[in-house]
Amino acid sequence: MAESFYEHLFGVRGKVAVVTGGTRGIGLMIAEGLVRCGARVYVASRKPDACAAAEAALKEYGDCEAIVADLGSMDGCNALADAITAREARLDLLVNNAGLTWNQPLDEFPEKGWDRVMDLDVKGPFFLIQRLLPMLRAAASPEQRAVIVNVSSVNGLRPSGLANYSYVAAKAGLNQLSAQLARDLMDDCINVNVIAPGPFKSKMTAPMYATEETERQVREQFPMRRWGEMHDVAGLTVFFASRAGSYLTGVVVPCDGGATTTT
Ligand SMILES: NC(=O)c1ccc[n+]([C@@H]2O[C@H](COP(=O)([O-])OP(=O)(O)OC[C@H]3O[C@@H](n4cnc5c(N)ncnc54)[C@H](OP(=O)(O)O)[C@@H]3O)[C@@H](O)[C@H]2O)c1
Repeated sequence: MAESFYEHLFGVRGKVAVVTGGTRGIGLMIAEGLVRCGARVYVASRKPDACAAAEAALKEYGDCEAIVADLGSMDGCNALADAITAREARLDLLVNNAGLTWNQPLDEFPEKGWDRVMDLDVKGPFFLIQRLLPMLRAAASPEQRAVIVNVSSVNGLRPSGLANYSYVAAKAGLNQLSAQLARDLMDDCINVNVIAPGPFKSKMTAPMYATEETERQVREQFPMRRWGEMHDVAGLTVFFASRAGSYLTGVVVPCDGGATTTT
């Protein structure tokens, strides 16, 4: 069957993608969107049970395999890159989504809360990109650029009002790293873009909707009066990965219902 114009613009069918932290929250939303659009998706996280559950859920929609890896360590980044290299000849899309935050008052903020966040939120993405570059280069051409999407945060764009010091530094660092890589990988035909989410319901934000009343109060502060949903973040990722997004690199797109742009 001839490719429809819609598929021509937004198609990711048959593309090979890796989504780190794809077993729950925003990563699972992105992975689901990609699988449902016909991509072959590898999700990765630390917990074997979470990997098995995500793989089973995503297989309902299409092609998915979960790989256990701790991406806060060099060994974990190497192991994931080796696993992908053993299974595929090329990688069209790498989504560096796995991340954690750490909240503690300034005067007592511990070194551990600095190192763990930096290791997972900025060092991990850098070395995973480095290790997967041969696979991304193998997929990339001027007609069909390979794509890296780094998931940062609106907290990397402006002060957050939270005691998440290492997180804001890591996410701002990831934004800047992405801009640098976008320039350096230009001639390799690899685009590097950033999604900076605003509020999405996930384990990370669970205290913000712990009770109905808390959820309502928090939601009332959002310009659109709603949380981000699967189609918001999956749609943006599909856009970046498809022909429609091919002329964009080095951009940071807040996916936050206007929170950074209108307030
Ligand atoms: N939710 C929001 O409102 C929001 C807003 C702005 C930015 N973000 C960003 O969006 C991304 C996803 O956040 P989320 O809210 O979906 O978080 P989440 O629900 O806590 O999910 C985090 C994911 O990362 C995995 N992960 C955690 N540590 C890992 C490690 N060391 N190695 C490999 N995987 C690891 C987790 O699985 P395991 O526990 O099995 O490892 C899980 O799949 C993060 O980068 C976060 O900073 C989220």
